[in-house]
Amino acid sequence: MRSSIALKILMAVTGLLLVGFLYAHMIGNLKIFFGADAFDHYAHWLRTIAEPLLPHAWFLWIMRFGLVVAVVGHIVAATILTRRARKARPVKYAHRPKVQGSYAARTMRWGGVIIVLFVIYHILDLTTGTLNPAGGDTEPSTRVIADFKAEQWYVTLFYVLSIVAVGFHLRHGLWSAFRTLGQQRPRGEHIARAVALVLSVVLVAGYLSVPFAVLTGLVD
Ligand code: HEM
Repeated sequence: MRSSIALKILMAVTGLLLVGFLYAHMIGNLKIFFGADAFDHYAHWLRTIAEPLLPHAWFLWIMRFGLVVAVVGHIVAATILTRRARKARPVKYAHRPKVQGSYAARTMRWGGVIIVLFVIYHILDLTTGTLNPAGGDTEPSTRVIADFKAEQWYVTLFYVLSIVAVGFHLRHGLWSAFRTLGQQRPRGEHIARAVALVLSVVLVAGYLSVPFAVLTGLVD
């Protein structure tokens, strides 16, 4: 793609689609507070959406396909944009001032790598059950609860760190997306920063509430 603006728009649009998924998934996870049965019923329902118009689980597979396309588009655009930025300034800054953007801005690439590694582990853990302490032939709620028991503290720790990484990534990503999609005025910048922060904090809190509830025995 020749235009860097087009690539940035691709990043923003795919990123916003992924935020949509992250919010839907987080809200779905809160079903665990209504009990294990409600959570498993929800997981089952995900496979029946659009039936009988579509065969069993087709809608889920279409969503999965869309997610993979969005993730690949997001990563390819990010890689090309980073390469171009490096080419434009092949010599490293001798002195890189500290004001060069926030912590979140400077950790986008590594944050992204951690999130991809987390998602691969997460699917093997909770979708297929292959790496789950309760095993594969179990209900989704059983797997979630098995993960966050105190004995498996390292699993909880990895989840917590990954969710926080998602929060940082989102905070800067949302702000960049707003800018790409037209937010240019100084007053708007304050609002964009605040919206990005609130959306990221709410998302992180929603995700973290599940391990927290299992660890404290609120859900079992
Ligand atoms: C404590 C936090 C989380 C919990 C309890 C949780 C729970 C689950 C469960 C139970 C499934 C399996 C659903 C099913 O097969 O019916 C799942 C799938 C998935 N989760 Fe999460 N999740 C969490 C955080 C995240 C985060 C932060 C991300 C993304 C960065 C994520 C991305 C995914 C993806 C991509 C799938 C696979 C969907 C599929 O193909 O079926 N999850 N999650």
